Amino acid sequence: MKDLKIPQHIAIVMDGNGRWAGKRHLPRIMGHRKGKETARQVTSACSELGVKFLTLFAFSRENWKRPKLEVNFLMKLLEHAIDSELEYLKREEIRVMTIGSSEGLSERLIRKIRRTTELTKDHKRINLVVALNYGGRQEIINSIRRLASGKSPEDIQQTIDALTPEVFDGYLDTAGIPDPDLVIRTSGEMRLSNFLLWQSSYSEWVVSPKFWPDFTREDLIDAVAEYSERNRRYGGLR
Ligand code: IPE
Ligand code: IPE
Ligand code: MG
Repeated sequence: MKDLKIPQHIAIVMDGNGRWAGKRHLPRIMGHRKGKETARQVTSACSELGVKFLTLFAFSRENWKRPKLEVNFLMKLLEHAIDSELEYLKREEIRVMTIGSSEGLSERLIRKIRRTTELTKDHKRINLVVALNYGGRQEIINSIRRLASGKSPEDIQQTIDALTPEVFDGYLDTAGIPDPDLVIRTSGEMRLSNFLLWQSSYSEWVVSPKFWPDFTREDLIDAVAEYSERNRRYGGLR
């Protein structure tokens, strides 16, 4: 463990809650409930390892397509977590941030999120970035809108002429957050599902066959160990 190269930023597609429940003949929502516990354990483990940013994909823009009952449960679970985990966030000095759109979220949830981000903004141990109602393509479109907003056509032209990837970074939801070094997806699925499209261009990927509720602190350490062995070249030679 001593020689592990610790990623500054780990991003996780927490996948497989429904299948975890299905295997046990339980309703899908039970998988989400158990998955919330995993999220807490993995957050603590990342914090202990010295990871500075952890992004968790909690709800995608595409997840609205699911049955209303499941969507409502996920929203309630989030609301509940915000209340019940506040003490934990304070104790462990976790700063909470969100990426994604507030469109379609309830006023109450939006208020609770605002309050939590405000209450935790001085915490320095680890940044927990919750991707909520997030979709990578939409984020890029929103960034272009932000870039143009309130500017005259001449100013827009000037901004576009001077645009570089580093400048564009500043318009994304993740402005100020470093790109993920390691992206983990559970449940064996090997796809991006519209997660951090721009930001993960040079991230290392580790796919775990385990369903998210079964993912443990040891599995996280294994993923970091695998990352440690990777030779990141960024297109160059090393
Ligand atoms: C991931 O688990 C959690 C969310 C998408 C909110 P799933 O709900 O996608 O579980 P599977 O993939 O259907 O097993
Ligand atoms: C991605 O998982 C979204 C989250 C983990 C929140 P999905 O289960 O929604 O992705 P697909 O549908 O399998 O691509
Ligand atoms: Mg899934």
